[in-house]
Amino acid sequence: MGKGQSSDAKRKTIIAGNWKMNKTVSEAAALTKSIVEGLATELKGEALPEIVLCPAFLCLAEVLNQVKGSPCKVGAQNMDYRDSGAFTGEIAPPMLTAMHVQYVLIGHSERRQFFGETNESVNLKVKAALAHGLTPVMCVGELLEQREAGQADDVVREQVVAGLAGITAEQIAQDGGARIVIAYEPVWAIGTGKNCESPEANRVCGLIRAIVEELYSGTNISAGTSILYGGSVKASTIDEQMQQEHIDGALVGGASLKAEDFLPLIKGGAKRLKSFSHA
Ligand code: PGA
Repeated sequence: MGKGQSSDAKRKTIIAGNWKMNKTVSEAAALTKSIVEGLATELKGEALPEIVLCPAFLCLAEVLNQVKGSPCKVGAQNMDYRDSGAFTGEIAPPMLTAMHVQYVLIGHSERRQFFGETNESVNLKVKAALAHGLTPVMCVGELLEQREAGQADDVVREQVVAGLAGITAEQIAQDGGARIVIAYEPVWAIGTGKNCESPEANRVCGLIRAIVEELYSGTNISAGTSILYGGSVKASTIDEQMQQEHIDGALVGGASLKAEDFLPLIKGGAKRLKSFSHA
């Protein structure tokens, strides 16, 4: 058993759908309804992974309404780190918690690329999420040029270390595990159909776990942190991905927009639960 693999550590297998800037309120309601119905029929009686649906802000209320009584959880795609104030167009953490949103994506590469998100703002938002009882899904991953220049590991290390800067084990610890999720999403694999090969994705997810272990050695944090892979995950790739030691689930974009594409990914997560005792 390697570092960060203590037998008593609990970490969840998570299948999260990032709907990005897609779906109107009524379309989001319909998609949620078909996912919930699909779970009740196709996966009836099965132990399920944690399922997290991340619609646009405007659709959160409707999706929360539709998931009532189902195993699905709901996450936001972003938030501001401040509690309130004159920040036109922003959404504050207490607005999310008041609605019972449980997860929040932080630092998705599209936020970093198009909306000026930096390692520093990611760090402020991760701290704010933890302070408000939300589970942050902190996204990291290198650009194609960085991978080609052999800098992938350094970039990921810097993003993980900077994103977690100043955050104590006590702030993250929860129920013998950790209330933080890290998603490794190589930018060149997002929305491109180009999948990062599973052994390589596993290697980088393992590196992330080792970095978390360096930061929080002597605790259960690294063994309790769910580390997801994201980037063109689909039905044909999920089984192999879910067999990897360090890939605890998937953050899915394109294949989360239709129930018939997303349900097989949840099935992939359910299979992992059967084969990994820590999941
Ligand atoms: P994709 O997106 O599955 O469409 O590649 C993943 C993501 O951006 O989270």
